[in-house]
Amino acid sequence: MSDATPILHMLSPQKHMSPFDVNMAADAGYKVIVPYINVTQEEVTGLVQDAIFSRPPEYGANTGVFVGGKDAILALDFLEAARKALVPPFQLSVLADPAGSFTTAAAMVACVERALKFKFGRDWKGTKVAVFGATGVVGFASSIIAALEGADVQLVAHRGLDRVVKSAQVSKERFGVDLQAVAGETDAQKAEIIANAEVIFAAAAAGVQVLSKQHLASANKLLVVADVNAVPPAGVEGMDLFMDGTPLPDSNVLGVGPLAIGDIKYKTESGLFKQMIGSKEPLSLDFRHAFTLARQLVA
Ligand SMILES: NC(=O)c1ccc[n+]([C@@H]2O[C@H](COP(=O)([O-])OP(=O)(O)OC[C@H]3O[C@@H](n4cnc5c(N)ncnc54)[C@H](OP(=O)(O)O)[C@@H]3O)[C@@H](O)[C@H]2O)c1
Repeated sequence: MSDATPILHMLSPQKHMSPFDVNMAADAGYKVIVPYINVTQEEVTGLVQDAIFSRPPEYGANTGVFVGGKDAILALDFLEAARKALVPPFQLSVLADPAGSFTTAAAMVACVERALKFKFGRDWKGTKVAVFGATGVVGFASSIIAALEGADVQLVAHRGLDRVVKSAQVSKERFGVDLQAVAGETDAQKAEIIANAEVIFAAAAAGVQVLSKQHLASANKLLVVADVNAVPPAGVEGMDLFMDGTPLPDSNVLGVGPLAIGDIKYKTESGLFKQMIGSKEPLSLDFRHAFTLARQLVA
């Protein structure tokens, strides 16, 4: 690490920069943190170039840009715009983690992977995954991470297929993965999806129970279910907050709860900030890098 002061410019397309992410950045070691709100994609180039040209090139790796917000695609577009704005040797590091979703998704997939590996001797190749809350940022990122590892992923629509189909198209265009959009609005549709799933990611909105005990009764092949919702009621009935690869009550299905995931999420986000501060080379980090780190953290 150089003796340059670590500075982080935090960009949000929304009205607020997340206090959670500001705290995480400070605790990871950034000494100067500046939030920018209501940022548009067109403004990213100017902001990044303003930041790089004010410091000598060897300070570049100690200058960071964080992309927040609540939209995964927009965050990836900001990240790309920031990367393209660099003028070597004047550079900086960039991390995208909108609404904490990339690090949360990475943590969830890594925790489930550990349970699959150690309890069932399985990996993601050909594993059938159903994602509830698929239009959300956590659902989106976790679908792509699992699909990139070879899982056979279904995006479950809870109110109309259109947006889920669009999500699958975007994922194909950007990441080359084939995700299947399925309707999961009625109990009968849910039962069929659950009956075929080996892994379920419950990533619906806070305080929404997407899977009841009754739904899970149709889970003939289900090995592991993960739930990121920490706000009662649990996203999956019977899920304990700290569950980490132990069976759900009266079931053989293993549960991974929101605070087990949250612990790895926290360490992953902190670790990515520390990688940026400690790196000699400028970094560009998204959910794929988050997953690499989360995997190491759960090992
Ligand atoms: N444990 C952790 O460390 C951690 C960290 C961050 C977030 N989280 C949690 O992760 C979850 C997802 O967060 P997010 O930021 O991705 O949320 P989000 O972007 O608001 O997405 C929420 C998803 O839930 C769906 N949904 C809403 N009501 C539903 C219902 N009644 N039935 C089925 N699906 C429903 C939404 O569908 P529509 O698009 O149709 O509305 C959307 O797909 C939340 O519970 C959040 O609290 C956990």
